Amino acid sequence: MTSFKALWVTEENDNIKRQIIERTTADLPEGEVLIQVKYSSLNYKDVLSAYGNKGVTRVYPHQPGIDAAGIVAASSHADFREGDEVLVTGYDLGMNTAGGFGQYIRVPAAWVVSLPKNLSLREAMNWGTAGFTAALSVYKIVKREKITPQMGATVVSGATGGVGMMSVALLNKLGFEVTASSGKEDQYDLLRQIGAKEIVGRQALADWDAKPMSSARFVAGIDTVGGTALSAIMKSLKQEGVVTTCGNVGGLSFKTSVFPLILRGVNLMGITSAGTEMPLRRELWDLIAGEFRLDNLDLFTHECSLEELEDKMAQMKEGAHWGKLIVNMEG
Ligand SMILES: NC(=O)c1ccc[n+]([C@@H]2O[C@H](COP(=O)([O-])OP(=O)(O)OC[C@H]3O[C@@H](n4cnc5c(N)ncnc54)[C@H](OP(=O)(O)O)[C@@H]3O)[C@@H](O)[C@H]2O)c1
Repeated sequence: MTSFKALWVTEENDNIKRQIIERTTADLPEGEVLIQVKYSSLNYKDVLSAYGNKGVTRVYPHQPGIDAAGIVAASSHADFREGDEVLVTGYDLGMNTAGGFGQYIRVPAAWVVSLPKNLSLREAMNWGTAGFTAALSVYKIVKREKITPQMGATVVSGATGGVGMMSVALLNKLGFEVTASSGKEDQYDLLRQIGAKEIVGRQALADWDAKPMSSARFVAGIDTVGGTALSAIMKSLKQEGVVTTCGNVGGLSFKTSVFPLILRGVNLMGITSAGTEMPLRRELWDLIAGEFRLDNLDLFTHECSLEELEDKMAQMKEGAHWGKLIVNMEG
């Protein structure tokens, strides 16, 4: 039995409280693989869990963190041995299963991915769920729909968020011209640095939604926002264009006529990273370490300790953050 530090969220008389406490590995749920977590990363879903959102975490007390990368400390499954470098993202990790904001997790072997060669534990969490979601979105556009840079330009909404920045950087790396939509003018220079050729303000993008159809500007879009951003992108796609959508910070619902679908054959593709099947999950992590590899991640990555997470979560809750945040569990 080993003791370790964890972010611990409790609920008392409808009051949600967060503190760093000592737990022991005996407190963790049953599972085949015990992992010493070296790095985690912060995602919007973690903020929801840490602030008491019952749609994400049904029962408290709870140890959040939907991402973890670390070293196998014990395994009863033949696929993993003590000392292996591994990562876990999605499934139920950090939702109702003790997550990566603790220095240890214990999970089913079916959730565990061996760290690909050419990727460090820190780099894996540099991507984390946000980056994995960007990779899944790009995969659907490029590998499944066979969209190429020669076919036209692309657009990304919520561009300064974790998924947004990774999507801009990745599309740029693959040779696409990228238009980034963002509500944060002070980050436009950074967006240009990571590969955005054009930038459109959040409101300007929403304005494209005013009419049943808009000019055909893009061959593909990655929407991370939902609401009017999604319908605006659908209306601005070219013939047979593709848009993926993964988020809802801009609205749970969206409104469009059927025109983009029946006049331009536009395809709307949903993204659900948490439930990605293991074969595709492994393929994506191999791509992340290879063809999708990004060498400019530090331009938009911050790092914090478990103790500093409280302030960072408050910033994310207010929408005041930008880029990706890695949590160094030994920091
Ligand atoms: N479906 C999945 O598998 C999956 C996986 C990961 C994440 N998600 C979801 O995808 C979304 C993005 O994730 P993330 O990690 O990138 O989140 P994030 O870091 O919080 O970024 C969200 C971005 O959306 C923009 N935004 C914020 N408030 C907005 C508003 N009221 N209206 C329009 N835009 C707004 C901001 O970008 P600008 O200021 O640049 O506009 C913000 O940086 C979240 O909703 C998350 O829960 C889904």
